[in-house]
Amino acid sequence: MDKISKRTFLKGAPVLGITAGGPILAGAATHSENPLSKQETLLDPHYYSESGWQFGSQAIHHGEQEGYQVTPISQDKCAPGYQRPGNLKNPTVAALLRKVMELEGTQAAVGGPCGMGIIAQTYMALLRPGDRVVAHRCNYDWVMTLLREYLPSWGIEVQFLDFNQPERLEESLRKRSAKLVHWEPYVNPSMEVLDTQRLVEIAKAFGALSLVDNTWLTPYLLQPAALGADLVMHSVTKYMGGHGNAMGGVVSGRRDLISTIDRSQNWLGGLLRPMDAFMVTQGVKTLPLRMTQHSKTAQVVAEYLADHPAVKRVRYGGLPSWNALGQQASPRGFGGMLGIEWKQDRVHQSLGNHVRLILNATSLGDPCSRIMARQEETDRGIPARYTRVSIGLEEADDLMADFKQAIEKC
Ligand SMILES: Cc1ncc(COP(=O)(O)O)c(C=O)c1O
Repeated sequence: MDKISKRTFLKGAPVLGITAGGPILAGAATHSENPLSKQETLLDPHYYSESGWQFGSQAIHHGEQEGYQVTPISQDKCAPGYQRPGNLKNPTVAALLRKVMELEGTQAAVGGPCGMGIIAQTYMALLRPGDRVVAHRCNYDWVMTLLREYLPSWGIEVQFLDFNQPERLEESLRKRSAKLVHWEPYVNPSMEVLDTQRLVEIAKAFGALSLVDNTWLTPYLLQPAALGADLVMHSVTKYMGGHGNAMGGVVSGRRDLISTIDRSQNWLGGLLRPMDAFMVTQGVKTLPLRMTQHSKTAQVVAEYLADHPAVKRVRYGGLPSWNALGQQASPRGFGGMLGIEWKQDRVHQSLGNHVRLILNATSLGDPCSRIMARQEETDRGIPARYTRVSIGLEEADDLMADFKQAIEKC
């Protein structure tokens, strides 16, 4: 194939002729003929598909609707070839899902209205009363609520373990099987760095599905599916979209599982909207550049803070003092999330009143840096006097100066 016809091929045919149970036909068709299914390609952390293009080029070109460099926003709920009640076969949404599949190296994808939306739908679609879920002791706050309160109330048993010791998962699954194992490779908000490869292997060995929340690292820094994960989810509200201007969630992975989730949307509702998908798609095109810059700036700020006399310890994946084993170490970096353990209560309590450039606010993964003071939660590995930081895309010098002046005022 010459370069042009390859490109046409990779963009996928217009998403026509979708059959029930085949959620993302154009993307899926691409993948059925794509060497990604070959193990050796999957195991290459810097995989690129048969176009020979690398990640950054795929992020820009892959998945756009045939004939377009920017897939238009289609608000048509019955676009030709996309009809099916309650579905997400909208051309604009399909463009984003195809990009996510290509970058994650997955077979199929389905979108939801936000990260929590797609996680909840995934659980509702795949789990039944009597099933068992095993999860790391710490995840995003509302995932914890879903796991702690809602799943048990639906008759689903949830066990929390410390996945820093993968052998704990092995022991648990050996004693009793589980339907699904859930974790974040770089944990919100504790900044623990888990051994995703090992955890995937254990889940697989005992017949459990692995659901990996890759919101924080993105496929640019880690591709869980290449390590064997069955499902990879994203709050695309965060780094994938990257501009804090759209909300969405995407889960991608095994075609059979995605079909089940896709089908459940017909009665659960909760779809990824075309306008949000369009905004996120534009963000994905610059994902490699943004993740590189988030990682560089966070590394500089983490090193600065680690030496600051007010600081007890900085938790950042790129610091050997925190990530001694170099877990998940991508040569491309660790993204923008770090945590600060303070020596004194007063800095922890009042830093937010004194920052000027940095926002004292929740959310993460966009150009604005933010801090959020956390309460101690020993069962989740969240220490006392702890602040979660999302390093944005401002200049590192300005961020360090802001931390310095704010700490001095505390
Ligand atoms: C790791 C992780 N997963 C899921 C979510 C939920 O995403 P959303 O806010 O889009 O519902 C978040 C939100 O911060 C998150 O950090």
